[in-house]
Amino acid sequence: METTSYIERRNELLERIGSGMAIVMASSHKQRSHDTEYSYRQDSNFKYLTGFNEPESILVLTPENEVKTTLFVRPKDELAELWSGKRMGISKAQELLDVDDVHSIEDFERILPELMPGHDSLYMDLFEDSSEVVKMLERCKKIQMAKRKAKVLLPSSFKNLRSEIGRMRLKKDQNEILAMRKAASATLLGHKGAMAFTGPGRNEREVQAYMEFLFKMGGAQGTAYESIVAGGNNANTLHYVNNNENLKDGDLLLIDAGAEFNLYAADVTRTFPVNGKFSPAQRDVYQLVLEAQKASIAMAKPGKTLTDVHKETLKVLTDGLIHLKVLEGSLEENLEQHLYRRFYPHGTSHWLGLDVHDESPYITETLDEYVFEEGMVFTIEPGLYFPATDATLRNELQGIGIRIEDDILITHNGHEILTAGIPKEIKEVEEACKTDYKSFL
Ligand code: GLY
Ligand code: MN
Ligand code: MN
Repeated sequence: METTSYIERRNELLERIGSGMAIVMASSHKQRSHDTEYSYRQDSNFKYLTGFNEPESILVLTPENEVKTTLFVRPKDELAELWSGKRMGISKAQELLDVDDVHSIEDFERILPELMPGHDSLYMDLFEDSSEVVKMLERCKKIQMAKRKAKVLLPSSFKNLRSEIGRMRLKKDQNEILAMRKAASATLLGHKGAMAFTGPGRNEREVQAYMEFLFKMGGAQGTAYESIVAGGNNANTLHYVNNNENLKDGDLLLIDAGAEFNLYAADVTRTFPVNGKFSPAQRDVYQLVLEAQKASIAMAKPGKTLTDVHKETLKVLTDGLIHLKVLEGSLEENLEQHLYRRFYPHGTSHWLGLDVHDESPYITETLDEYVFEEGMVFTIEPGLYFPATDATLRNELQGIGIRIEDDILITHNGHEILTAGIPKEIKEVEEACKTDYKSFL
């Protein structure tokens, strides 16, 4: 795996868009409540192409011009910086960010018409924020009107930029892997700490707080997505994020949470007993999910696909459900009729990187499924869900929800589990639950 610089990434994108131009916008601040905002997170694609973390910035790529990369940034402003922190400003950005040209964001409307001629299409994010697309259409309309008698080619179609960058983001380089390793090691600390901290009477919220504290103590900037801390039957709500109930003796606790480092995500799920000891029924279901996960991880090597991984998960889970007498009939008919879906309603994997559900496409430009290559990263996350309300299930199974999720990097001849070391064998998990949580402080 090599390291790619931001310049190389921009050059690759310039090639991909041919005679089109591209506009990539930084994230904007999002209001949380009156006069307060959510903490700022840069747009993943903008970050990928510039490494620049400030809002109100725009990158314009113009392959047909002499100046091929233009960045618009916030100018220095003493008063604004007093309130909201330092800005890099125009001259430092020119010096540090290796783009051809840097301007003030205030000049974007004025300079855009100069950048457009010679390009037949405009690539931008078409699906995330349609108001930006409408604004850009209006700008294009004005520019078309103003230049209607000029002998220049102007963009006459809009194309989606995200799938182009998504293809580039599919294989991670060394720096990206390093960031993902750091996210993984902070995640390890948080999950182990959560196992140690949990006990009957604790609240989901308290476990979340302790785990997320350890993410930060482990060097991460925070969480990569909203943590799921789901005691007992709450685990059967796949995206349970209320995290506000007391944990009960005899229940399991499912935690799906990952740290974010330099905007790169870890995505890990562990399920463990609140009182530190699996009951026989919990143990049977847990062991089945673990076997499905391990068999699926064994499929992760160059040449295989996410479908191969998913099919392996389905086979092991369905076979196990028949042995547990939750499903009846043959393995083949249960697989063919998707009868496992009642208990395993989600997919097994997604790409992972700057976004927890990384945006890279699953299908190639020639409409084939992507085949694993060195540098691709994805999750493997089988689970089984037995809702407390499902009276068709044996009593001891009702209310059990289990998922086990790790992050997998494809290497030249196999894989590496980036999140290895977070306890998942039954013995290891029970040991981790016995640890003194204060030993993490
Ligand atoms: N944390 C979301 C997921 O596992 O896909
Ligand atoms: Mn996941
Ligand atoms: Mn997850």
